[in-house]
Amino acid sequence: RIVASSEVEQTYIMIKPDGVQRGLVGEIISRFEKKGFLLKGLKLFQCPKDLAQEHYKDLKERPFFPNLIDYITSGPVVCMAWEGDGVVASARKLIGATNPLQAEPGTIRGDLAVQTGRNVVHGSDSPDNGKREIEGELAQWESVQTPWLIE
Ligand code: TYD
Repeated sequence: RIVASSEVEQTYIMIKPDGVQRGLVGEIISRFEKKGFLLKGLKLFQCPKDLAQEHYKDLKERPFFPNLIDYITSGPVVCMAWEGDGVVASARKLIGATNPLQAEPGTIRGDLAVQTGRNVVHGSDSPDNGKREIEGELAQWESVQTPWLIE
């Protein structure tokens, strides 16, 4: 099982179903690559409802929570681990404000989205959450390593 490194900062970036469906995967990955961060893990994933509820558990009392869960589970998402100095805060800057209409031009949401409920990408809000989200949502499939592949 891959465990997020405690020495190097990592963040969990997830391209939401609208980003995948609109063909923005390459564009979004490219922004993190060009900035100079390292891609450490990636998978295409249909998020089950219970994991989506766990991911957004801090928001479960908010009125938009049911719509948010329906949206996140509506199609495949791209889950990624990105690494580098200050990557958590920097990724949040590259992503832009939660409401895309308030996100600055030049940010992902500022350039590519209109609605808060369709804001194309998620980024962890702290190094601790980055580690938790990577281990919970990206690395779980590592346990599937098989004896005919790995001695
Ligand atoms: P939040 O963690 O506050 O924002 P961010 O994604 O920028 O860290 O909210 C998580 C997601 O919940 C947000 O990306 C979109 C959705 N959301 C709504 O649909 N309506 C809202 O009013 C808010 C605040 C968030």
